[in-house]
Amino acid sequence: MVILGIESSCDETAASVISAEEGGVMKVHSNIVSSQISIHALYGGVVPEIASRAHCEAITNVVRKAMENAPAPDAIAVTFAPGLIGCLLVGVSFAKSLASALELPLIPIDHIKAHVAAAHLENVFSVDSYNALVVSGGHTSIYRVDRDIDFTEIGSTRDDACGEAFDKVGRVLGLPYPGGAAMDRLAQKAFEKFGSDPKGYIPFPSPAVGDDDCFDYSFSGLKTAVINHVNNEKQRNRTDVLSEDEILRIAGSFTRTVCAGVVTKLDAAMKANPSEILVLAGGVAANSHLRKAVSELCESRKVRLITPSIPLCGDNGAMVASAGYYSFRAGIIADSSLNAFASDEGSKAYLDQIRQKRDSRS
Ligand code: KG4
Ligand code: ZN
Repeated sequence: MVILGIESSCDETAASVISAEEGGVMKVHSNIVSSQISIHALYGGVVPEIASRAHCEAITNVVRKAMENAPAPDAIAVTFAPGLIGCLLVGVSFAKSLASALELPLIPIDHIKAHVAAAHLENVFSVDSYNALVVSGGHTSIYRVDRDIDFTEIGSTRDDACGEAFDKVGRVLGLPYPGGAAMDRLAQKAFEKFGSDPKGYIPFPSPAVGDDDCFDYSFSGLKTAVINHVNNEKQRNRTDVLSEDEILRIAGSFTRTVCAGVVTKLDAAMKANPSEILVLAGGVAANSHLRKAVSELCESRKVRLITPSIPLCGDNGAMVASAGYYSFRAGIIADSSLNAFASDEGSKAYLDQIRQKRDSRS
């Protein structure tokens, strides 16, 4: 089966054509991503109206390019939730028109589930259920995933997302938006410089919160502690600029604290919900230190870690197409009334309606 996936929930306009075989083998024929980062970097974050307009300008060419040298699709999958509503509406409207013109089934996809489905693009696995950690700019949650389609959240951030914290700390350290990837490189330098010397690191508060049987995170206290530390350092040294050493120390300490905290709750969640597979997905899954920490955890628990390669961690159309394959198999097909939803509540109700219609047909 050949699927065209369309993604426009935040600041990347993306489209991809993949094919998926019954046994779960997938092939990515095209994967086009048009990023708006250079536009939003001017404002230090995503400006929703500018993002919607940029999607509107880019989407036709992005989809055309994705379809150019790829086999003709049998279905179109599109991200319909969650995300910035104006951005989602561009992708949903475009996908609806194309599906109608080509007389193809239209598959509504949840962005978070798509991040997890990216794991299938380069790895063949088929189990009844597995655990997944999604760490992105907008979400940080641990899920129990059944039949690749039913997601039960077993832990989540109570405030900021992990990527949001990386970007905010990057900003106070003077890095351009989004700071996640640059923070990764700074932390690497810090670890090379300070090694395991505790004096090289600042004791920031852990994002792991609650009792042992709670698998939640909170990144706002950690973020505030870093901001306070930066302000105190500047005041103490009577300067507006941090020294290069101090920037490294902060990036290293922040990253160490995030990795340790994320692993603490993930470990507890995996212990309470045993499974042979863990999927690590989302934009922050590109972080080399987090990948290493989660990989060590999985090794110690004898769990197979599946994580997309770096280009497939960030937002892309191939992950939407992959999720489309599993949704299509489960009979999740939208009609012409498909709408976009900024949050999960609306989209859950919509998917429940589709399931009810599907079940009443069978
Ligand atoms: O999944 P994604 O592309 O978009 C959302 O769905 O939010 O994630 C984007 C986030 C940004 O916060 C970005 O800074 C972060 O992923 N990110 C990273 C790295 N690469 C991207 N964070 C830490 N280390 C990285 N190497
Ligand atoms: Zn994303």
